[in-house]
Amino acid sequence: MPPTPKNHPETSIEFKDGVPVSKLFDDVYFSKQGGWEESHFVFLEGNGIQSKWEQSGKSTFRIGELGFGSGLNIFVTLEVWKFTNNPPPVAFISLEGYPLTTNILLTLNTSYPNKNLWFEELIHSYESAIQIWEKDPSENLWTYTWDHPNNQHPFTLQVYFGDIRDCLPKFPEIHSWYLDGFSPMKNPDMWSSDVIKQLREKSVKGTSFATFSSAGFLRRNLAELGFVVEKKKGFGRKREMISGFLK
Ligand SMILES: C[S@@+](CC[C@H](N)C(=O)[O-])C[C@H]1O[C@@H](n2cnc3c(N)ncnc32)[C@H](O)[C@@H]1O
Repeated sequence: MPPTPKNHPETSIEFKDGVPVSKLFDDVYFSKQGGWEESHFVFLEGNGIQSKWEQSGKSTFRIGELGFGSGLNIFVTLEVWKFTNNPPPVAFISLEGYPLTTNILLTLNTSYPNKNLWFEELIHSYESAIQIWEKDPSENLWTYTWDHPNNQHPFTLQVYFGDIRDCLPKFPEIHSWYLDGFSPMKNPDMWSSDVIKQLREKSVKGTSFATFSSAGFLRRNLAELGFVVEKKKGFGRKREMISGFLK
């Protein structure tokens, strides 16, 4: 059933080994064997983000994520951006149908006590965006901006709340995709052929993608639409993942 603003109760999450698990989708938000490292390996290295930033000059580099969840991917990307000399401005555009409650988001800070993740102002900003969405589902965009410690460019987060079918059409042209919508077996809606077609429409020559999944139907759908698809060794105990780019 597509999400509506009110159906994101805390009870739909349980914790296993300190990692949030969705009872609705019976899947983990990130790996038990080092979520931070997995995010870096799969999405940043899989997309070659740093070398793409070096080539993009001063124009805004747009990352599109399917599944905001706990925000882990944005924090990993933000940290790399802050440690990059003279990076481009980045717009990180994501979507989320079942936003986690702030209590659950705050557990990410406990998992990574040395990182500056969900600080108070950010949590309040998220919370008030959810309240606005709950009152009026057409007001579903949350934005927040970070500054770089030693250059003028901003890092802007934009999260659309709602079902992927309503949110993905609002995305602009994307330079790198993070495909992170739970396993395709457990959540086929995030990997439907309509979704893949829209990814293609919102991509330009050279747009890259990366995902922890290596499902055969996904590889075929991406290849049919003109993406070069490469199988790689997955993170930790995972045998395979895929990444690639639009020809
Ligand atoms: C694996 S989690 C994302 C993990 C996340 N990137 C992180 O860093 O924590 C997948 C996310 O997709 C969201 N999702 C699942 N089905 C959806 C749908 N049909 N529309 C929008 N979001 C959906 C889930 O609520 C969940 O937050």
